[in-house]
Amino acid sequence: MAEPGTERAARPPIRVVAFDAYGTLFDVAAAARQAAAEPDHEILRDRWPQIATSWRVRQLEYTWLRSLADAHEDFWQVTQDALDWALENEGLGTEGGLRQRLLDLYWALSAYPEAKPALQRLRQGGHSIAILSNGSRRMLDAAVSSASLGELIHAVLSVDEVGAFKPHRVVYQMVCDRFRCASRSVAFVSANGWDAAAATGFGFRTIWINREDAPRERLPWVPTTELADLSQVPDAVDTLNRGVPG
Ligand code: LAC
Repeated sequence: MAEPGTERAARPPIRVVAFDAYGTLFDVAAAARQAAAEPDHEILRDRWPQIATSWRVRQLEYTWLRSLADAHEDFWQVTQDALDWALENEGLGTEGGLRQRLLDLYWALSAYPEAKPALQRLRQGGHSIAILSNGSRRMLDAAVSSASLGELIHAVLSVDEVGAFKPHRVVYQMVCDRFRCASRSVAFVSANGWDAAAATGFGFRTIWINREDAPRERLPWVPTTELADLSQVPDAVDTLNRGVPG
């Protein structure tokens, strides 16, 4: 039987809510969707979803492959390489205006509409707010600024500081180091099932934003909570703090 007080010590209150960036706060499909609506890029009209998907999938795969091959590179380079693959895969050239337009739009992705109200409620609840992302420092600063989220976020943590990509543990550790807190004091929010799962393995309490109603990743760890979008994150954090299993 647990010693009196042990259970409480194992579940400290959540002090920090850390968000993944791309696909969680910022809509990664927005660049291709927006370019497709522009007269110069009608070629994307029916193909933008395919390009957005393969761009994103290759971007993540390249982070993992580079990690395994000990060939880390800045996320902006990885993002450009992935776009080049996605365009060529669709028979589209990588020279000319389309590639540059997509990259420019990626630099200023829109935030999901429910992101700002959720961050505001979390701040009102007294939580520290962080972004923890594979994104380079410059990419993240640009995205936060163009979505006008800067005043709501206490720390923007880029993997640039550790030279590794998620799901390496040194990335998740950055939150604990920055806020001088235990992993169980952190709620980590990600729309990537693998990211939420691996962060659970690290010791965070996790909220998987499962926008596509996707199946759970078959990994050794299970996200603590699952939501359809960001709007219920403040309530979910309150629920975790009330000691509901997690
Ligand atoms: C990030 C990617 C994984 O922002 O979405 O870290």
